[in-house]
Amino acid sequence: MKTAILYYSFNGATRTEAAKRAASTGADVYEVLEAKKRRLFSAFLVGCPQALGRKASAIKPLDIDWSLYDSVTLMAPVWAGHPAPAFNAALELIPKDKLLHIALTSGGGETPKSKEATIDLLRKQGFTLASYEDVKSGQPPKKA
Ligand SMILES: Cc1cc2nc3c(=O)[nH]c(=O)nc-3n(C[C@H](O)[C@H](O)[C@H](O)COP(=O)(O)O)c2cc1C
Repeated sequence: MKTAILYYSFNGATRTEAAKRAASTGADVYEVLEAKKRRLFSAFLVGCPQALGRKASAIKPLDIDWSLYDSVTLMAPVWAGHPAPAFNAALELIPKDKLLHIALTSGGGETPKSKEATIDLLRKQGFTLASYEDVKSGQPPKKA
């Protein structure tokens, strides 16, 4: 059985990290795209409050045969200290019987404001969380 890597990337850093992991593990990769292309201004003005409130953004449909996978790695950037809203949307798609790995990229490489609550939330939602990883992309938040 294989691993599916689902990732959302606004500026490309998470995409690069997902591709690196796929190349070294042979996992299949799926990009999560927001239904409406976001601009930097909207990422800060709308996206950050959404991330803080753990709201899901609208995403494009993904065609995934989940029966091929026993584990899923969900990757997304950190916005305002929290997973970006597309992370919350992608979570709604992942069947609960998959072993879940989380990897969040951020400029600082830490999620002290949200890590424990994210882990709690995932467990409450019925996921089996295999790992939670903060990845330092070294790419600081750009100015809106
Ligand atoms: C709207 C916005 C908010 C961000 N907030 C944070 C933050 O709170 N902490 C942090 O370390 N990095 C923050 N960043 C930086 C991104 O998390 C980091 O550059 C990430 O690796 C970008 O991934 P991407 O290129 O795949 O979009 C923010 C970036 C954006 C665009």
